[in-house]
Amino acid sequence: SASEKGGWSSFMAKEVSEQPDAVANTLRGRIHEGHVEVPELTAFGDDVLAGIRRIVIIACGTAAYAGQTAKYAIEKWAQVPVDVELSHEFRYRDPVLSDDTLVISISQSGETMDTLMAVKYAMSLGAKAISICNTQGATIPRESDAVIYTHAGPEVAVASTKAFVAQISALYLFALHLARVRGTLSATEQLEQVEELQAIPAKLATTLLAEDSVRQLARYMSDTRAVLFLGRHVGFPIALEGALKLKELAYIHAEGFAAGELKHGPIALIEPGQPVFVVVPSPRGSAHLHPKVVSNIQEIRARGARIIAIAEVGDAAVLPFADTVIHIPLAGPLFEPLLAVVPLQMFAMELAIAKGLDVDQPRNLAKSVTVE
Ligand code: G6P
Repeated sequence: SASEKGGWSSFMAKEVSEQPDAVANTLRGRIHEGHVEVPELTAFGDDVLAGIRRIVIIACGTAAYAGQTAKYAIEKWAQVPVDVELSHEFRYRDPVLSDDTLVISISQSGETMDTLMAVKYAMSLGAKAISICNTQGATIPRESDAVIYTHAGPEVAVASTKAFVAQISALYLFALHLARVRGTLSATEQLEQVEELQAIPAKLATTLLAEDSVRQLARYMSDTRAVLFLGRHVGFPIALEGALKLKELAYIHAEGFAAGELKHGPIALIEPGQPVFVVVPSPRGSAHLHPKVVSNIQEIRARGARIIAIAEVGDAAVLPFADTVIHIPLAGPLFEPLLAVVPLQMFAMELAIAKGLDVDQPRNLAKSVTVE
């Protein structure tokens, strides 16, 4: 009903706008004097966490992209190898797991059948299981050894938005907790990351101010047939998520690619007028990757692509080559995805609205897939 939407035109619009709170609530009570301590992880004991040799993340849809994003931070901070797998692929092969493997499932609903079955399968092979879940008392957290709840609040719109940023935040808390237990980050490094994380809610609020310009862009592009998304490093899963949002909400053919793969195929798709969103890494924080992505932009621009760059405020290098630049606030390299995804969510939502579609209930999709 209209009152449940709190004055918003859709649950989707409401949930996109709630992202600063979704992250703030997920961080609450888990950061103490500059270091991360997730009480739920004490279920394992520090010796068990310190002894983990491998992490396998299992999830479907948007949750899997949250996992793919967090892989970079977990490996960098806690120095444990991470594989990210779709639940339905994981459970129908013969994965090699042992009792020093930790399986982390990610599920907003906690009821996705494939993810539940994958967790049970992993546990039967001896792995320990942590659930990242947004729904109190759901089946997957009940079946797992421990749960880190995201506190994004109920997500009603079928396409996931605020749960995604909350999932990444929860996984970053996990990574920092693990890094502390394993001694892989100094107190100063831990503090730097904690400060970055705590700054995200306010930066998300700033990012949401791009709404009007994104709406204008979406209206202008409402007859677009295909859209490409490019990203690199943590920007890659964000490109995939941007493409997924556009498929789900606006029924537009969309593909996300790793920018480094461009020459290995995707560049053949570029023809005059082809819109390409590019998630641009920070020129400061990712000084080694930024010029590579700018040169990708030049390559596709030369072939007629219409570039929409998601770039850090003050990034002057992209300006001459982009048709549109959407600015996001400065953030550490691993924290940019939490901001860069927001304009992509808004774009998909606004384009769906411009096409007269129901953004809360896209055709053929269900909020929670509880069958195979
Ligand atoms: C469905 C939803 C997606 C969601 C996916 C995983 O496909 O439409 O938005 O990302 O399921 O759901 P879960 O509840 O496991 O996160």
